Amino acid sequence: MQLIDGKQTSKEVRMEIAAEVAKLKEAGAKIPHLAAILVGHDGGSESYVAGKIRACEEVGFKSSLIRFEDDVTEEELINKVKEMNNDADVDGFIVQLPLPKHISEDKVNETIDPRKDVDGFHPVNVGRMTIGMPAFISATPQGIMELLKRYQIDTKGKHCVVIGRSNIVGRPMSVLLSQKGNPGDATVTVCHSRTANLKEICLQADIIIAAIGSPGFVKGDMVKEGAVVIDVGTTRVPATDTKSGWRLKGDVLFDEVAPKCSFITPVPGGVGPMTITSLIINTLKSAKKEIYQ
Ligand code: GUN
Repeated sequence: MQLIDGKQTSKEVRMEIAAEVAKLKEAGAKIPHLAAILVGHDGGSESYVAGKIRACEEVGFKSSLIRFEDDVTEEELINKVKEMNNDADVDGFIVQLPLPKHISEDKVNETIDPRKDVDGFHPVNVGRMTIGMPAFISATPQGIMELLKRYQIDTKGKHCVVIGRSNIVGRPMSVLLSQKGNPGDATVTVCHSRTANLKEICLQADIIIAAIGSPGFVKGDMVKEGAVVIDVGTTRVPATDTKSGWRLKGDVLFDEVAPKCSFITPVPGGVGPMTITSLIINTLKSAKKEIYQ
């Protein structure tokens, strides 16, 4: 069994990007610029956004943080999004979710210029990805694809079972893995809360992507010998032995499943560290006009 070390991979990717940015600086070219819009003071959102800003500093990007209080109106927020769309210095920006209930996330998302949508949430990017056109791909699926590629995990002709059908993980993963390419060319089954015989389907999987947000859902008797298991779960469960009072728990019962696997991602330290790095990859692609000319 080999552990897929997302922390180390993330570090390597960031070092590669930092080297590229250093070259841009040397050549006197424009430095990639990522902006983040944060509404309110939710603890999780604050720490995600802080991580994004830190990652920018690490690779030498310019970053901006735009903050609003919880009572910002939808119109004010949308006007800021339009301002970012028109700011030639900003290569990409994100609006941290969730937003307060009085603001439509869909409306805000659809206002973002797809060419700056480094989160890959805009329907234009989702659509382009689905038909195999160049597109910004959202952070978690892109991070998983990068891990599969760097660990040279063969997906061609393999049976991948994706557990979960969310718009930001399960569904895009199923699309990317079934597309032509490497990683890709897999036969994909999408399972969800209404799936019958889920255990039997999982037992047929060469690769399992567990993304249902249910801690310890995938047990040892659901996984065949030699399978690759990617754990996307990041549920906070109460803990008495951590400073924060919680710890992250994956969707996979690691101790039971790991001994059967050829490869497995731990939680924490697997998929998680790759997500912010994916955003950095997308911002660089945007600055280099690799997706849209
Ligand atoms: N909230 C949780 N994850 C994300 C993410 O990837 N992007 C944004 N914008 N908000 C989030």
